[in-house]
Amino acid sequence: MSKKSIRQVNLQGKRVFMRADFNVPMKDGVITDTARIDASLPSIRMLIDQGAKLILASHLGKPKEAGDPAFSLKPVAMKLQQRLGKEVKFFATPEVVDDSVRLAVENMNEGDVLLLENTRFLEGETKNDPQTSALFASLADAFVNDAFGTAHRAHASTVGVPTLLPIAVSGLLIEKELESFEKILEHPKRPLVAILGGAKVSDKIRVIENLLTKVDKLLIGGAMAYTFFRAQGRKVGSSLVEEEQIEFAKQMLETAREKGVELLLPIDTAGSTVFEDIEPTVYGDVDFPDDFRGMDIGPKTIELFCNALDGAGSVVWNGPMGVFEMEHYSTGTKAVAIKLSTLEADTIVGGGDSAAAIHQLGLEDKMTHVSTGGGASLELLEGKELPGIAILEDM
Ligand code: 3PG
Repeated sequence: MSKKSIRQVNLQGKRVFMRADFNVPMKDGVITDTARIDASLPSIRMLIDQGAKLILASHLGKPKEAGDPAFSLKPVAMKLQQRLGKEVKFFATPEVVDDSVRLAVENMNEGDVLLLENTRFLEGETKNDPQTSALFASLADAFVNDAFGTAHRAHASTVGVPTLLPIAVSGLLIEKELESFEKILEHPKRPLVAILGGAKVSDKIRVIENLLTKVDKLLIGGAMAYTFFRAQGRKVGSSLVEEEQIEFAKQMLETAREKGVELLLPIDTAGSTVFEDIEPTVYGDVDFPDDFRGMDIGPKTIELFCNALDGAGSVVWNGPMGVFEMEHYSTGTKAVAIKLSTLEADTIVGGGDSAAAIHQLGLEDKMTHVSTGGGASLELLEGKELPGIAILEDM
């Protein structure tokens, strides 16, 4: 069921608590990818234009100690200020909501913006503690959730606050994410092709099960392919394998056959005897030597996967094809990203590493949708309802 968004309510003059996902990658206090901040701007701008008094909240990382400056949202406040071209009030307080914050909220005018410090500085946040929810809710008259990336977490700022305020609607990012995933999973242009990668089959069990009921083709790369090789009785040398998932992989190969889904595995593998960023050796469709560790799909697989994508009506991609952070083993992931950018198809890229690859290559404008959610997009692909969305008002 679709959810009400900020398009359907008028929040003029209201104090709005908007949960965003500003959990952005940082290095030495500098934000290295601003995609999540940029993705929140349409909602922020709409609320400013509506004349709301906007109180933004987000977590950042998993701080162990309240007030740890490495987890402060200050760099986000500065970036937002730059992007919006207007003041974003920020108080670097470990208490998140203290007297100076309350006073600042009391004095807000229509269109003003304030960002709270990292919500996870409060222990009650991840426990969905009622007092923490009440503390956040006491600041506001209405709740907006635009934190798609955190919508799979039932925390105080995502599911506690909306139960305490009379208005609880989604922002424009959540609206766009849900529409994109719903379209591709429920009414896709066919053929629908899914590309799954990443290290572990165990992370994607329910995704594979769910996608096998929907897709026409499933392409599997990344280290998870080696567990499937084992299911086919092959030796994979010292490549990463989840022994306890071999049986599951066998079942999935069988399910794909029964359902008539074309399941493609790599036909060659790039790797090395050491886990280092050095020139790879490539093996074909054979048993690997004991000391060989697969780290990327090989050139023939790139061709196979690219051919399989030709003529696709819709494509959903989640997970890198190899050890993407190493230059020599990023070839497969980059090739898939580039191929997707040339297709006429509807293309959705799940968050996390595959989205990072798209951002690094500057290809986001060539995709129908690049999700801002890692775990959240996986849960949607599993067919689950996300708690941070379920709690919002229905249309
Ligand atoms: C994410 O990056 O996936 C979200 O921001 C959620 O973060 P978490 O895994 O720390 O809850």
